[in-house]
Amino acid sequence: MSIYKKGLGALIITTAAVSAQPAAAATPGLQVEILGVNNTLVRVTEPGKYILLPVQESNEDARINVLVDGKVEKTLNVRLAKSKVDYTVPFNIERYKGHNIVLSVITKQDRASVREAKDDACWSAIAVADTFDTTNREKFRPAYHHTPLYGWMNDPNGMVYKDGVWHLCYQWNPYGSKWQNLSWGQSTSRDLIHWDHQSDAVLEPDGLGMIFSGSSAIDPTGSAGFGKDAVVALYTSADASQIQSLASSPDGGYTYTPYPGNPVLTLSSEARDPNMFWDAKNNRWVLTLAHAIDREMLFFTSPDLKTWTLESNFGKGLGAQDGVWECPDLFELEVDGEGTKKWVLLCNINPGGPFGGSATQYFVGDFDGNKFTVDTLADGTVPTKWMDYGKDHYATVSFSDAPDNRRTVIGWMSNWQYAAEVPTTQFRSANTLPRDVALFRAPDGQLYMSSKPAPEVAGLRGKLALNVRGTSVGKTTKTYALPTANNGICEIVANFDTKKCKTFDIVLKNDAGEKVVMSYDARAHTMSFDRTQSGIVDFSRDFPSVTVAPTYEDNNKISLQIFVDRSSIELFGDNGRFVMTNLVFPNKPYSTIEVSARGGKARLENLKVYSIK
Ligand code: FRU
Repeated sequence: MSIYKKGLGALIITTAAVSAQPAAAATPGLQVEILGVNNTLVRVTEPGKYILLPVQESNEDARINVLVDGKVEKTLNVRLAKSKVDYTVPFNIERYKGHNIVLSVITKQDRASVREAKDDACWSAIAVADTFDTTNREKFRPAYHHTPLYGWMNDPNGMVYKDGVWHLCYQWNPYGSKWQNLSWGQSTSRDLIHWDHQSDAVLEPDGLGMIFSGSSAIDPTGSAGFGKDAVVALYTSADASQIQSLASSPDGGYTYTPYPGNPVLTLSSEARDPNMFWDAKNNRWVLTLAHAIDREMLFFTSPDLKTWTLESNFGKGLGAQDGVWECPDLFELEVDGEGTKKWVLLCNINPGGPFGGSATQYFVGDFDGNKFTVDTLADGTVPTKWMDYGKDHYATVSFSDAPDNRRTVIGWMSNWQYAAEVPTTQFRSANTLPRDVALFRAPDGQLYMSSKPAPEVAGLRGKLALNVRGTSVGKTTKTYALPTANNGICEIVANFDTKKCKTFDIVLKNDAGEKVVMSYDARAHTMSFDRTQSGIVDFSRDFPSVTVAPTYEDNNKISLQIFVDRSSIELFGDNGRFVMTNLVFPNKPYSTIEVSARGGKARLENLKVYSIK
């Protein structure tokens, strides 16, 4: 349908409607001029909402300068399709209505002639359109976990609760399903389960760089000059350096305006992911910043979010150190049943997690407004503690200003080892279920952090599909059917007593022979999660794995709550005392659950399976 015309030295392709087409199918116009082997101009000749950019994931990024009335408005990096189109991404041009829009596209391909460049698949598929289809139809797209509408997502950012609304921003590439063009996307929810997605990024790369991770909070005194109770954000501007920038929200957290005086904090070493809270006692802000390569956290204070004083640093040589330190969070929690409070410092690390790649470690201690002091063991050493014992739990941080004294966290449900290779297309990555954290004292005398599903998650529970009560389980496997509607998504609840056996196994299986094996070891007091045969595992050698969690009990009685979505399993043990989050990509939904015990008999107090609403 394209018309090829010979221009003066350039090759012009127009995708304007061809006269024989019915009016409804008319494509609003674009004029594509191939200027040279690696340079093309795309002029918008008719108005519309989006330019649909055709992407081929295996291709290199093309640099697209978007010119509005002749001025560079933004620069995008897009893997424009060369030999085939994997999917398209929308570039919103409605916001430039009435202005002259030109894309100057610079590619990096090896080619002999301009004629070759014209054959790139993107030039026959690029189009102006008024709609972009974000319908959730990918097989592995979660049914009840937050995902971006399309495109790549990593860390949760700018999480704040205001006026009944949970604001969840996230590291987002609106122009492809791999890490690039880092912006903040945003979704909002009133119940932490149903999310409304904003179609445009709320912070986009600017002259200071891409928008890396950061946090948002309510400014209760108007200290930063944007008004009392204004939502403010701090984020890392990342280009050749990583510096910290401020933004304010004119509308209670839905949109953001970068502060004209940015950056507000610079260091000459790599530091990122600012996370702040208002310290009401001292009438100032406290900021934790990841001093990434130095593998420590820095603490700053400020009266107004614009001028910062370095107060202290923490972590050099402590905890897990086999990777960069990222995405901190610092908050106070009550100790269950003890009437006391302690501070927790979250410290995400990549690589260096317990099963390879990225993971969330934390430290328990005290914070006096200037300095964090970690609890040590009797011998003076600092134990390494992990928040989740799966492979797919990273960049976890909490919502600011959550109601009812809650501390609610959300993580990125993937791992830097293979996040860009997982078998999805139009989107990549989901978030964990929201979790409320607390501190508990384990039989070893130490304090650990529990993560239980946020109370709102109970609202997902549908019909009771299986109810097994009080049965003895030995080496003969007992098999029960799982609900297969809606791709097998379900919640499994199980309570078992293993005082009289060595191991208790729960296996989820499909009829393609794929399975996930979860085993409790009564002697070691550990739970393992084996996904080596869980389905598609060969996209990365780091994906097939067995992860193991300490269960922090000494009575061999375990309760499990397991959330199965289309490509993830989250196992919460003993009310969140141990948690394992692992992705799985079964070719068919798991259709049976098998239980058995080795080395004696186990008592299965109950096994319930619920469908998900
Ligand atoms: C963590 C991280 C952050 C950084 C962001 C960039 O996953 O590396 O440190 O701000 O991702 O996307």
